[in-house]
Amino acid sequence: MPAFSATSPGKIILFGEHAVVYGEPSIAIPVFPTQAKAIVSARIQGKPGEIWIEAPDISLSSSIDQLEISHPLRSAIQLVIGDTNLDLVPSCNIQVTSEIPPASGMGSSAAISISIIRAFSAFLGIRLNNEQVSDLAFEVEKIHHGTPSGIDNTVIAYQKPVYYRKGTPFEFLEIGEKFSVLIVDSGMPGNTREAVEGVRVRWQKEPDRYNQIFSRAGEITQEAKRIIETGNPDHLGVLMNENHELLQEIGVSTPEIDKLVLEAINAGALGAKLSGGGLGGHIIALVDSKIEYISGELERKGAISTRITQVTHQGFIK
Ligand code: MEV
Repeated sequence: MPAFSATSPGKIILFGEHAVVYGEPSIAIPVFPTQAKAIVSARIQGKPGEIWIEAPDISLSSSIDQLEISHPLRSAIQLVIGDTNLDLVPSCNIQVTSEIPPASGMGSSAAISISIIRAFSAFLGIRLNNEQVSDLAFEVEKIHHGTPSGIDNTVIAYQKPVYYRKGTPFEFLEIGEKFSVLIVDSGMPGNTREAVEGVRVRWQKEPDRYNQIFSRAGEITQEAKRIIETGNPDHLGVLMNENHELLQEIGVSTPEIDKLVLEAINAGALGAKLSGGGLGGHIIALVDSKIEYISGELERKGAISTRITQVTHQGFIK
């Protein structure tokens, strides 16, 4: 029996993270140079219902029934099976690997879930469309992140730049003119769940102030959409800087992230901001020249890696 495999890109949020949890729009782009992968192969000797999962990146090698019911990898598999009796499922081995740095704001959890959902459903002969894949992955995202907006599973399932607002149909984003972004790894692990929960606690204490911040983030995202679609990308820099200030105000940046944002701008980037949940993770910087110099400066000032990518109608490509 052949093996079934699926890969999924990482993602970067260009504008609107956190505000998107509160109903504001956000823009996210798939990042193809980093991928998660799942390979499902039949275990000829195995009994029906025996599913073995191997995730060497996290030193996991286990039968799925030995994992907690709420374990995200087990959940992704279980969601595909649905109500079907596990004993009817042919025995298989699921191998999961990922190049997407975990806890970095690049969507590694959604990319892993989506790779498993796609490869395992293909193995079972179940056809799932992008919407179904995204919906199943959203359930796993809730285990990871508590109250996710749904943007990560959407952009990774559809693999196209999206303009996303919770509760309304999302739009694919047209890229009027391609532009370059440095994705900069701070090396400090982020924590989306903690960041989202922290924002919620502070929002409950000061709803008016936080609602104003979210609403301004929403306006910035709408303006960014207009600029991206009409093709004057250099103007995005100012919006990125302002979006970063709002993220600082809601308490999801850190001194290390702020330092990298400032260094990027001092070195010549047109704008920079944290990207994703925050409390660590990645920053992104809009660059149009001196790219090697800016990368070098950021690596000298503490970034553990920088990756230059071009944003096109497909998303981030090398
Ligand atoms: C995480 O990639 C983006 C957040 O806005 C959370 C979410 O939208 O689910 C921080």
